Amino acid sequence: MSRAYPPAADPKLGHDEPVTEVARASGVEIEAALRVWQRANTARGKTPTEPRIARVREKLADPEALIMVARKENAVVAMALAEPGWEAADLCHLSMLFVDPDRWGTGIGRQLLDAVVEAAALQGRPRVQVWTGSANHRAKNLYLSAGFAPTGEVKRLAEGEEILHLVR
Ligand SMILES: CC(C)(COP(=O)(O)OP(=O)(O)OC[C@H]1O[C@@H](n2cnc3c(N)ncnc32)[C@H](O)[C@@H]1OP(=O)(O)O)[C@@H](O)C(=O)NCCC(=O)NCCS
Repeated sequence: MSRAYPPAADPKLGHDEPVTEVARASGVEIEAALRVWQRANTARGKTPTEPRIARVREKLADPEALIMVARKENAVVAMALAEPGWEAADLCHLSMLFVDPDRWGTGIGRQLLDAVVEAAALQGRPRVQVWTGSANHRAKNLYLSAGFAPTGEVKRLAEGEEILHLVR
């Protein structure tokens, strides 16, 4: 019998792939989330410097931060950080979304992104903005397929990378 749903990740169907669970990060998961970010950035050729790691650790400790993780068998495999947007009271600023590189392209980014959008709406921030590299096709495709639209705003980072603004 073929079934389109539940997806193959459901262990009750006898497949080996463990289910992905998405939730707010617990305090003890913050360091694991930081490691996922480091691994994903290293894999895309942007190995973080020590000062950058310290800055991100600080951001993850902010009480206003909405930190969500995807877990497989209790291990953190993806992380996201969203913050209140400065520009408007109903705006959420998605500042980080990172999946463990061993699991890129398996749907986890989409699952986590959908959960962040839902959690932000529940916090009274139904609009979500993100900036991503113009050349970061994987991330750009993810945002577009999840209903984000480019606003046309573009910036250039100090190191020269062009980034695009998208809103949903
Ligand atoms: C960007 C990132 C979060 C995407 O997560 P992911 O789990 O790999 O993405 P998913 O498997 O959920 O795929 C979601 C969408 O991404 C796109 N995508 C996936 N694999 C892709 C690939 N190899 N090439 C291009 N686009 C791809 C597709 O549009 C896909 O949508 P679809 O399911 O409708 O085809 C993840 O790859 C990552 O951590 N990258 C490094 C860090 C980064 O760039 N973060 C974003 C900073 S703004």
